[in-house]
Amino acid sequence: MNLLGVSDILYISYFLAIVFVLNTQYTRILQFYFQGLIQQNPFFRYQVIKKLGQGGFGITYLAEDRENNDNLVVIKKFFPQQCEPYIKEIGLRLFRNEIKAQKNLGHFPKIPTFLDSYENCDGFFLVQEFIDGHTLDQEISLGVQLDQNYVSQLIFELLEILVFIHEKNIVHRDIKPSNIMRRKIDQKLVLIDFGAIKIIDMTLKTGIVSEAIGTSGYMPIEQALGKPKFSSDIYSLGIVGIEALTGQRIYELSENSKVGKLEWEKYCNVTKEFSNFINKMTFSDYNLRYQTAYQALRDLKAINSNSKLIKLGNKLSKLIEYKLSFNKTISLLLIVILCSIILRQNIDITNILEKKIQIDKIQLFD
Ligand SMILES: Nc1ncnc2c1ncn2[C@@H]1O[C@H](COP(=O)(O)OP(=O)(O)O)[C@@H](O)[C@H]1O
Ligand SMILES: [Mg+2]
Repeated sequence: MNLLGVSDILYISYFLAIVFVLNTQYTRILQFYFQGLIQQNPFFRYQVIKKLGQGGFGITYLAEDRENNDNLVVIKKFFPQQCEPYIKEIGLRLFRNEIKAQKNLGHFPKIPTFLDSYENCDGFFLVQEFIDGHTLDQEISLGVQLDQNYVSQLIFELLEILVFIHEKNIVHRDIKPSNIMRRKIDQKLVLIDFGAIKIIDMTLKTGIVSEAIGTSGYMPIEQALGKPKFSSDIYSLGIVGIEALTGQRIYELSENSKVGKLEWEKYCNVTKEFSNFINKMTFSDYNLRYQTAYQALRDLKAINSNSKLIKLGNKLSKLIEYKLSFNKTISLLLIVILCSIILRQNIDITNILEKKIQIDKIQLFD
């Protein structure tokens, strides 16, 4: 039997020392590292159910929150489609702005609540409240003309949201049907997708030039030129309204270049007041447009109360007409009854007379 040499004993003690270190500090470091990774990666906490959409700069997922009763959430992952560094850079800036805006605005009931955000080597993530409902592109479709009441209500609700976000110096820049959701629970409209927002620095006097972000058709000229204004969102909302009223895509409508307005009125039936209102939202010259969502909202309220008054007036005149015609019928009926009584009496008289003549005749023959 060979006895252990000095070198063997040294090896064994090295080995034991390593095991000891691993068991103490190193494992703790490792544990800490992996825990950190787990905490940084949303997909350890959230179980993805399906993909909801994919835009130029990101993917949107529907997921379950394993740490909160499997509640549904929406996760947006920054995922640029193009690899040019400067485009990626713009995308990342927009994504960070989206997170900032969502944190800042998310307590408003008609904007998804901000839940969490992550930035790590796996990417950038935004977690927000899931809105159970559908997007408005399911309601506003080609060939379907929606009425003035519907569009007026739509614009009213969205203007209320715009008043709120513009107060925070944020221009949404991407108002369109697929970024507006109708919530199932109360049928109210919710504005989503703050991925294109522009934070306007009110201290800067000169016009701020930024990238042309937005969706063509819904985006006004000044926004396409990189100078978005608060009235740019009002323009996009007006375009959504025109599409809903006419059932046509905005590209199909011609433009009166003299006045700088779209020719849309002939394709639908709205009051003059309402068409003037929509035109003031969508003039291509932003100086002619409503400058604030608040002004537009105030005018829309006035139009609605006017039309309520008109409706009330119409109802009243119908009632008066009905009463008049009711009176006419009653008097006609009375005349008929009177005539028939007179006629009956006449018949009776003639009967009596006839009988009398007969009696007279009999008496005469007698
Ligand atoms: N908070 C949300 N709740 C429910 N569905 C959402 C929510 N956010 C986005 N979606 C859905 O995912 C789609 C894409 O998300 P969106 O934020 O518009 O990103 P993008 O347009 O950049 O792909 C939306 O059209 C909508 O159907
Ligand atoms: Mg979108």
